[in-house]
Amino acid sequence: MQEYSDQYIGGEWRPTLAAESIAVLNPATEQVIASVPAGGAEDVDAAVRAARAAARAWGATSREERLAPLTRLRDGLAARQQEMAETVVAELGSPIGFATAVQAGLPLGVAGSYLDILAGYEFEERVGTSTVFAEPAGVVAAITPWNYPLHQIVAKVVPALAAGCTVVLKPAEDTPLVARLFAQLVHEAGFPAGVFNLVTGRGPDAGAALAAHPGVDLVSFTGSTAVGRRIAEVAGRGIKRVALELGGKSANVVLPGADLTRAVNVNVANVVANSGQTCSAWTRLLVHEDQYEEAVAIAAKAAGKYVPGDPTESSTGLGPVVNAKQRERVRGYITGALAEGARLVVGGAEAPEGLAQGYYVRPTVLADVTPDMAVAQEEVFGPVLSILAYRDEEHALEIANGTEYGLAGSVWAADDETAAAFARRMDTGQVHINGGRFNPLAPFGGYKKSGVGRELGRHGLEEFLQTKSLQF
Ligand code: NAI
Ligand code: MG
Repeated sequence: MQEYSDQYIGGEWRPTLAAESIAVLNPATEQVIASVPAGGAEDVDAAVRAARAAARAWGATSREERLAPLTRLRDGLAARQQEMAETVVAELGSPIGFATAVQAGLPLGVAGSYLDILAGYEFEERVGTSTVFAEPAGVVAAITPWNYPLHQIVAKVVPALAAGCTVVLKPAEDTPLVARLFAQLVHEAGFPAGVFNLVTGRGPDAGAALAAHPGVDLVSFTGSTAVGRRIAEVAGRGIKRVALELGGKSANVVLPGADLTRAVNVNVANVVANSGQTCSAWTRLLVHEDQYEEAVAIAAKAAGKYVPGDPTESSTGLGPVVNAKQRERVRGYITGALAEGARLVVGGAEAPEGLAQGYYVRPTVLADVTPDMAVAQEEVFGPVLSILAYRDEEHALEIANGTEYGLAGSVWAADDETAAAFARRMDTGQVHINGGRFNPLAPFGGYKKSGVGRELGRHGLEEFLQTKSLQF
């Protein structure tokens, strides 16, 4: 077991100023696999000072001077993809196939996309008698969650560095090891000291100190809505910009005339992926009442194919959830839904058979779910699909829009035009049309309480820029 006692600050691994440490658990074995410092206000202060000291010089670099180390970072991510994937398997429990393709593969694509975006971005434009410049926002605090730990780091840190910002990263307690690997790659890529800094620690200590630090200009956060609200309050007092990527309760709406079998099968795969720990997961399947029982039967058959098991096996499609607390939370939503009158189609709150160890949850399909139930309103973050019936299109739209969230969604119809027309009326940041695939260049972010701001693509770069105009 590795016991780490350092933080990456000012271009080097420095001994932590914190006395405590955080144990990192493997959720499949429940064994402690490493420990990292539980950094507090002192480590955060040192990191912010380092980022502040580096900000002016890094912010004044040319596009080419930023592209060179960013290209080496992308190449490092490519060279170490397998190690990254194995680290995410160990600390999060994502199955190795998914971890390789998505947990480690997606960040590689996102990092690459920012090389192209930076190469082509117009940092200067003429408006009447003015020249308008896009300048870096300054020192960025990046606070990330555990569910896509490397992707969420890359989706913040890479565009921030491309924009000319300097960064202090505070990764989630559950997944600090892939964050340390990322810091090592930043180091090897040869960025100037202080441009990127890493502080591991607990949310209420290191996270809160970072969000409140007067040396931070912008806080970019992904995680729960409750913590996002607190961060926005604290940042507001300091007049800091915030970008928030929060929870979701996304609807998959199957309109009459759509390919029901495909729509339901894709939905089950979507909600089981990463053990349901995806903020944009389609956790509500909305089907016309005439097709309801047919949809339930298709979902039951599809969910039955996912057998929870060892995430290091390439044949495993469903691993454990991240920790014991998350497992209890998911089980609580399942028993709560049944108590409210939902029908258990497959799965359930009991531990899966034959798995004495590990934080496993059965893939679960719930029918007869009504819009007022907690399971239809709140983020579960587990492999649980709720199926709701609608009477007509207006009713489907009312249900789809009837939560406080608006992160993602999906519409299936007989043709793309019909589906797109419905999608335009949904209060949500992204919608997949008839199975349209995830696009890492498309702006990602929420309407309503799902967040503020957008990540990925050109919009993601612009989060880290501010505007100056010179009048001639
Ligand atoms: P969380 O919101 O507590 O953690 C996310 C990050 O925020 C972590 O780095 C954590 O250390 C930090 N944090 C926590 N308290 C903080 C504070 N007071 N100030 C600054 N930073 C703080 O999420 P948690 O507790 O791990 O998961 C609970 C639920 O949140 C999940 O079940 C899920 O519903 C939701 N969630 C949503 C995510 C998304 O992608 N939108 C990601 C993770 C969780
Ligand atoms: Mg928490």
